[in-house]
Amino acid sequence: MKVYGVTNVKGGAGKTHTTVHLAHQAAQEGMRVAVLDLDPTRQSVNWIELAGLGIPALHIDIKQADLEAYIGQLRSEGDFDAVFIDTPANDRDAALETLMVSDVAVIPVGVGTSDTGMLGTTERQVKRAMQLRPDLRPFILINRAKFAPARERETVEECLKTGFPVLGARVPLRGDYQAAAGKMPQGQHYAEVWREVNA
Ligand SMILES: Nc1ncnc2c1ncn2[C@@H]1O[C@H](COP(=O)(O)OP(=O)(O)OP(=O)(O)O)[C@@H](O)[C@H]1O
Ligand SMILES: [Mg+2]
Repeated sequence: MKVYGVTNVKGGAGKTHTTVHLAHQAAQEGMRVAVLDLDPTRQSVNWIELAGLGIPALHIDIKQADLEAYIGQLRSEGDFDAVFIDTPANDRDAALETLMVSDVAVIPVGVGTSDTGMLGTTERQVKRAMQLRPDLRPFILINRAKFAPARERETVEECLKTGFPVLGARVPLRGDYQAAAGKMPQGQHYAEVWREVNA
């Protein structure tokens, strides 16, 4: 079982979109997938249920539940190949706890949305987690791409300063992504992202 934590303490970076699209992609490829949604707004759970994706999705309140113990239990039961964790904005505890149980961290960063402004916080968290879990593999995913090339270059430069790999596969700014919540995921971009994070 591999755990994919989707984190960025910045709100609106694309965590929920990334979580649901990657989970759907993995399920399409025949993997046994589950989603854990740590966000009290339950956007991933709601989306998965509304769209009828057939992926088990559970909201977890980490103030009440022990995420590490829960992931340990899922690992020992062996019912899932891939577990995705969506995290809330501005909740450093949730982000850090997620990183501590993840094998792969996917960090969406939006172009032109001041998402790099808080990247330092996420960078410090990932580096803290990596001290205890050196096998954690972080990847930055550029979101809202192919719209403002100069801003995109600046964003990528900022992201590269973290020392984390920036995925070659990027998700463009598109109306169908903007309106994707609650619907069956369509775009092909996340298929490339999925391939790259597992390469
Ligand atoms: N590639 C894209 N193109 C256009 N709109 C997008 C794209 N990705 C995300 N959005 C829009 O940006 C908003 C934020 O996306 P999303 O909810 O996935 O971010 P988030 O990081 O989960 O936010 P939060 O921190 O509030 O949980 C949504 O309204 C979504 O429709
Ligand atoms: Mg979200």
